[in-house]
Amino acid sequence: MALILAIETSCDETSVSVVSNKDGIYRIHSNIIASQVKDHSIWGGVVPELAARKHLELIPSVYEQALKEAKYDINQIDSIASTVAPGLIGCLRIGSIFARTLCLIHSKPFLGVHHLEGHLSSIFFSKDYPKPPYLVLLVSGGHTELIKVGEKKEMLRIGRSYDDAAGEAFDKVGRLLGLGYPGGPAIEKAANNGDSFRYDLPKCKISDKKGGFLKYDFSFSGLKTAVLRLVERLKDSEENIPVSDIAASFQRVVAEVLVERSINCATDYKLNDLVVVGGVAANFMLRKMMIEKAYEKSIKVHLAPLSLCTDNAAMIGAAALSRLSLGDFQSPLNLGVAARLPIDQAMCLYDQNPPF
Ligand code: KG4
Ligand code: ZN
Repeated sequence: MALILAIETSCDETSVSVVSNKDGIYRIHSNIIASQVKDHSIWGGVVPELAARKHLELIPSVYEQALKEAKYDINQIDSIASTVAPGLIGCLRIGSIFARTLCLIHSKPFLGVHHLEGHLSSIFFSKDYPKPPYLVLLVSGGHTELIKVGEKKEMLRIGRSYDDAAGEAFDKVGRLLGLGYPGGPAIEKAANNGDSFRYDLPKCKISDKKGGFLKYDFSFSGLKTAVLRLVERLKDSEENIPVSDIAASFQRVVAEVLVERSINCATDYKLNDLVVVGGVAANFMLRKMMIEKAYEKSIKVHLAPLSLCTDNAAMIGAAALSRLSLGDFQSPLNLGVAARLPIDQAMCLYDQNPPF
């Protein structure tokens, strides 16, 4: 059995987890998440400097709690992993320095993990996770990507958002409807009482220079602007803003776009398994619509467990465990952190000459 202590501090959750893998069965022994949502909500979004300070304040106790709940001693841990890219630089630094210091003190191997590979690996905690190759729709606050995972864990990005990520659109629309931060869960709640077909909002596409449209890419900023214009128009005509109907119409359009493009992509690439991960994967309408539409095309949908859709350290541990199941992966202790790193370059984190 391989036992990992993992740390996630790339945005506004301070999380430490102990996870294991025995013969392909991934287990969570503890997964402590200290959310900073309340600290940031008054500002309407994450304040990077504030988030980094909070991580520094919270990480020692979250670490103690994770070991205590897992009933393991640090000496029993095989390797230590932390998110090193992409994310907010100051935030990544706190988790990564904490992890590398533990490695130095306790003589443990260190694995730097790509945050998106972490999201992708949250699926290993579901009972029947698929064998590669498969397609992943990764929908979070910072990314909307379609990624093909190959047999040796090669990751090929097939599609992406050219502007806002889906979660970012939820957050911006949530703010302009006065629903607070984070927008995703607030819009979902408001949409429950709304008419999702009341407003016809645009499904934006990216033009292909060769003509037509890029089939697997996304754009959500036009949709957000359409909601803004709709709200302005309603305010000008002094009508009450039907927040629930707007939220429901917006949520339907986002779900339809994500579902249509993911299923077309899986069909075109002849992939029978479709994995959905990331914060927005917690959205019930998206989950339901994806299962129904994929079924019509004989595609099997694998949804990340609800509690592991948003940022957490267990998924970071799963990414490290899955690397270790493929070979002797280890990062140098002088590996730094990076705000950006495409997922298909995640292998560079295990180069003995660190890329940053
Ligand atoms: O994966 P995540 O925790 O952080 C990033 O790596 O970005 O995702 C956070 C995002 C936020 O934009 C939040 O509004 C969105 O996920 N989100 C949701 C839901 N829960 C969280 N979006 C739609 N419906 C939800 N239920
Ligand atoms: Zn994330």
